[in-house]
Amino acid sequence: MPTLQKPVNHTLFFRSLAILLFSLPKTSVAGTQITYIDDQFGDTVTGALPTYLPPSLWIQGSICSACAFHPDSTKTYDSTWHDATTNISATVQFNFTVMSSTTLDVYCLLPNHKSPGVSTNSFYNLSFVLDGQTLAQTFVHSSDLSGNIQYNAGVLSLSNLDPVAHTVSMIALQNSVFHFDFATYT
Ligand SMILES: *[C@@H]1O[C@H](CO)[C@@H](O)[C@H](O)[C@H]1NC(C)=O
Ligand SMILES: *[C@@H]1O[C@H](CO)[C@@H](O)[C@H](O)[C@H]1NC(C)=O
Ligand SMILES: *[C@@H]1O[C@H](CO)[C@@H](O)[C@H](O)[C@H]1NC(C)=O
Repeated sequence: MPTLQKPVNHTLFFRSLAILLFSLPKTSVAGTQITYIDDQFGDTVTGALPTYLPPSLWIQGSICSACAFHPDSTKTYDSTWHDATTNISATVQFNFTVMSSTTLDVYCLLPNHKSPGVSTNSFYNLSFVLDGQTLAQTFVHSSDLSGNIQYNAGVLSLSNLDPVAHTVSMIALQNSVFHFDFATYT
């Protein structure tokens, strides 16, 4: 069984990058720092972990032999993702706080079944709640019947968030798959 070890210190990398960028002439940089929220290891700055509800529906996909799809872990962030395929709602929730106006992006893995069936379902239907308000946008994806898995697929992108603490919930609706890999905020 593969162990879940964090391979790279991304925080350190981006801090080094930020220091490097700040030492360059002012006109060439925006001074933006990216923070990652990994499905398994959580926020690279605060260490806060996402919550998965209900817990019984969720499994760590990188060590799941019974899962319908087997993504290549080397193509995922930190070699991990959370897998739910459900006939009821499954939710991922995380919190993050920023000091200035910010952007949030969420990335998932999108399997594409070759033939339809209950066990090979790869239909996505996600809804999103930000600070208690259901967002108008949703994410829907139907299989292209290729059998391929898409990596780093953006499912949610928000900008100009207020500089306060935020709570994001992502809800997979009935008969949806959900392979959550990571989120970033700047
Ligand atoms: C979901 O699937 C489980 C297992 O197959 C079944 O027992 C349950 O009744 C289903 N629930 C709904 C709401 O379809
Ligand atoms: C996010 O913050 C809210 C309010 O403090 C709290 O109820 C919730 O449990 C937190 N969720 C996570 C995933 O930490
Ligand atoms: C996604 O789920 C919502 C809520 O159940 C539903 O209204 C909508 O029709 C679904 N979208 C698709 C494409 O099935």
